Amino acid sequence: MVRIPFIAANWKMNKTVDQAMNFTEHFLPEVKDAADVDIVICAPYTLLVLLGAQFKDTNVDLGAQNMYWEEKGAYTGEIAPDMLTDIGCTYVILGHSERRTLFHESDEEVNCKVQVALQHGLKPIVCVGEDLTEREEGKTSEKVSRQVRAAFKDIDAKEVLNCVVAYEPIWAIGTGKSASPQDANAVIQSIRQNLADIYEHEIAGQIRILYGGSVKPENIASLMAFEDIDGALVGGASLDWEKFAALVENK
Ligand code: PGA
Repeated sequence: MVRIPFIAANWKMNKTVDQAMNFTEHFLPEVKDAADVDIVICAPYTLLVLLGAQFKDTNVDLGAQNMYWEEKGAYTGEIAPDMLTDIGCTYVILGHSERRTLFHESDEEVNCKVQVALQHGLKPIVCVGEDLTEREEGKTSEKVSRQVRAAFKDIDAKEVLNCVVAYEPIWAIGTGKSASPQDANAVIQSIRQNLADIYEHEIAGQIRILYGGSVKPENIASLMAFEDIDGALVGGASLDWEKFAALVENK
């Protein structure tokens, strides 16, 4: 089963309009001929309208970093799924560890968001991963498996094909300390096995599973060399257009 490489930027809470324009002005021409790779930029809400217009008819897709599960109404400060599709978002990151840790998002809430995103035609990038204590206590598979099962509860096989999973060990995010490609691949294999247990091998074999956590142009190729690592979710190194273009190039 051929899975097209998937390179996604997670800009987190970074970039003003001017900074985003400067990025796209250089980045879009640089990657316009990149073949056999899906490129996604998940930007802050304030930039999505602008980027949606800029990415139209390009090979770069737009993503958000979160959304709420209600359709509209009195939810001050929240953003609904239709608001995202309306301005050209294809993807939405759900359950990022920063949302889970800093904003206390539970497995149940992540599952609810995954269901609603799919109902509205958004493709979720579902994040899972263990913290340092869990890793040191040998609880990585247990934690990741629990998160995967919870996130995909009541999602059927047809719908799950519209999802991407990102394995992001929390201790590797923003620390410069990436997981070794061997370790990342082993956890990703276990995630694929979890998906095969829920669905079936044929389905699990089609779902892209990314690695995230201190990915940079220098280590992307060694990660992607492993069979089960289908791409990367990139924070810090995605903020610089040259680095992010190099990541797309070196994938
Ligand atoms: P990082 O972040 O590349 O800066 O480690 C990755 C992420 O949080 O998605």
